[in-house]
Amino acid sequence: MTNRSEQAYLEALSRVVDPVLFHSFDELGTLRGLKIKRKVAHVTVAVPGPDYPAAGELRRRILDVFDESIEEIDLKMVDLTDSEREKLGEKLVGDSAIIPPSQEPAEGAGAHSGHAPTTERPNPFVDRSSLTRVICISSGKGGVGKSSITVNLAVALAQAGHTVGILDADIYGFSIPRMIGVGYPPVVLGKTIIPPVAHGVRCISIGFFVEEDQAVAWRGPMLHRAIEQFLVDVHWGAPEFLLIDMPPGTGDIALSVAQQLPRAEIYVVTTPQSSAERVAQRMGSLAKQMKIPVRGVIENMSWFETPDGQRFEPFGHGGGEALANSLGVTLLAQVPLVTRLREGADEGMPIVAMAPEGEIGLIFAKLAADIAAASPTRIYRSELSVS
Ligand SMILES: Nc1ncnc2c1ncn2[C@@H]1O[C@H](COP(=O)(O)OP(=O)(O)O)[C@@H](O)[C@H]1O
Ligand SMILES: [Mg+2]
Repeated sequence: MTNRSEQAYLEALSRVVDPVLFHSFDELGTLRGLKIKRKVAHVTVAVPGPDYPAAGELRRRILDVFDESIEEIDLKMVDLTDSEREKLGEKLVGDSAIIPPSQEPAEGAGAHSGHAPTTERPNPFVDRSSLTRVICISSGKGGVGKSSITVNLAVALAQAGHTVGILDADIYGFSIPRMIGVGYPPVVLGKTIIPPVAHGVRCISIGFFVEEDQAVAWRGPMLHRAIEQFLVDVHWGAPEFLLIDMPPGTGDIALSVAQQLPRAEIYVVTTPQSSAERVAQRMGSLAKQMKIPVRGVIENMSWFETPDGQRFEPFGHGGGEALANSLGVTLLAQVPLVTRLREGADEGMPIVAMAPEGEIGLIFAKLAADIAAASPTRIYRSELSVS
């Protein structure tokens, strides 16, 4: 027997948004039932699994729906079955249409029945209709602050109201989950991966899937496949910006990543003392081989200021400017050496999230605004490219 308040609560509940899946019960189809009997609400919802990281927050959001007219809420969370999980994954990644029903493995048909369909999903970032700007953060070598810049730029873009994802493509030196402070692992729905969100940024990294040092044994094709899977099987939700923390230099992995992102833009991180010519040559050749443009230079560790306001330049001067000149692009930002920046990275609390109005926060806010204001590249349309 449905009474009026039950119907009203049902509608309110169906609008509750899952904090990890980012869709409402209505869209997910996971509200299993609501019964109100003698001021007690009996609610049943389905969640991906017993260790679902959002269970606590989801519970809070459900309880919030009810007012004082309800004295007790009896909330049951049941687990999705394997096949329900897989179906939900397909729905979320938005490509169920590409798997024709005739190709779905028939029930009980051989050893592979019940496994995920092997049909390849398209790479959404290659599609010309994609509205995502893919921003590759590259450097000539490691240790110049590529990951630090990626994380803080992503948080600054999110603070400015953009939708942002980070793909940690530095497979041998992954550090994004630790630096941005991801609090829970990705949720796997069949072959769809739901990335965790930290400071408003969706993140994926090989670090979620392998032990430290394990990826070192991987060879080229495995790495290529891992990156491909991160582009294709992760529910990015068509963000405005996808930042790629690139492997340092221009080795095979960097080429492989760039190859899979033909519409990307490269931003180069350098220190003031880097040999501008060498870095420029390398980045220039990466851009040329991959036919993707270098759009700007970011200089990191530019200076150090003592508490009494004295400035030192421990890594010299002018590297960013020289590199920008030789690449024919703009030096977009200079980021000083700041202890809090390193501590923030070590503690998983990016300095831009901690102090958006501080010196570093403002530098990244401006960098984010400048990158957002730059028109997306059209180089993939050869008729528009300027020579
Ligand atoms: N501007 C900065 N001020 C202080 N420490 C920094 C700065 N940029 C980077 N670091 C620190 O330097 C180290 C290397 O930076 P990281 O971002 O990991 O470089 P990469 O990704 O290029 O290897 C890290 O410990 C990081 O916290
Ligand atoms: Mg790094």
